[in-house]
Amino acid sequence: MRIDVVTLFPEMFRGFLEGSLLGAAQTAGLLEIRLRNIRDFAGGVHRQVDDKPYGGGPGMLLMPGPVVECVESVLAEATAAADPHVVMLTPAGRPLTQQLVEELAGRDRLVLLCGRYEGFDQRVADTLEPEAISIGDYVLSGGEVAAMVLIEAVTRLIPGVLGDEASAGDDSFSGADRLVEGPQYTRPREFRGLQVPEVLLSGDHRRIAAWRHEQALNATRRRQHSPAASDSELP
Ligand code: 6GU
Repeated sequence: MRIDVVTLFPEMFRGFLEGSLLGAAQTAGLLEIRLRNIRDFAGGVHRQVDDKPYGGGPGMLLMPGPVVECVESVLAEATAAADPHVVMLTPAGRPLTQQLVEELAGRDRLVLLCGRYEGFDQRVADTLEPEAISIGDYVLSGGEVAAMVLIEAVTRLIPGVLGDEASAGDDSFSGADRLVEGPQYTRPREFRGLQVPEVLLSGDHRRIAAWRHEQALNATRRRQHSPAASDSELP
């Protein structure tokens, strides 16, 4: 998989990308991540990338020219066989779920477009027609941290990137039923008076599987959901 990150702040990614799992995956040739600086496509002596919104309002918007030209320079390197999927990180996007992560992990090439300031000029989306993705119902100052979340979630599903191949299939949200994982235990058998449940020591694999499934159901039911305004709540 190849991922190009289009950002005004490439240095935010460096330590993250050199970290253990992602660094090793890139060294092993399983993954290539390239950083692209929008500022390199800014014009004028001031290398301006943002400006005030027409019609007034707070903050600054990313101008369409530098962003679109930066993405187009990435697309110009692509081949028809590896057509990149362009993603725009924005709180107005489709919520990132494990199901969407699995869809993205099936792509050969991703281009991740990170915004700063109050957002992008609408003509960025009109021109590039990206898939808009949000990592949750709260506001970040920019899309960079959201892009890192997406990269970590997607790349750990690439075969060979995780140390233990079996473990991604057991993850929370990943089975057909999309349950979260229940409690797990390691040594010691007793910690401050708290015992490891007897069933896990029994060696009875059917009982253990049944217990784990029941715990996963309970953990899933207990989760607090605070969804965004649903359609029925909107005027
Ligand atoms: Cl993708 N970007 C920003 N700026 N804020 C967010 C987000 C993205 N997802 C949730 N909040």
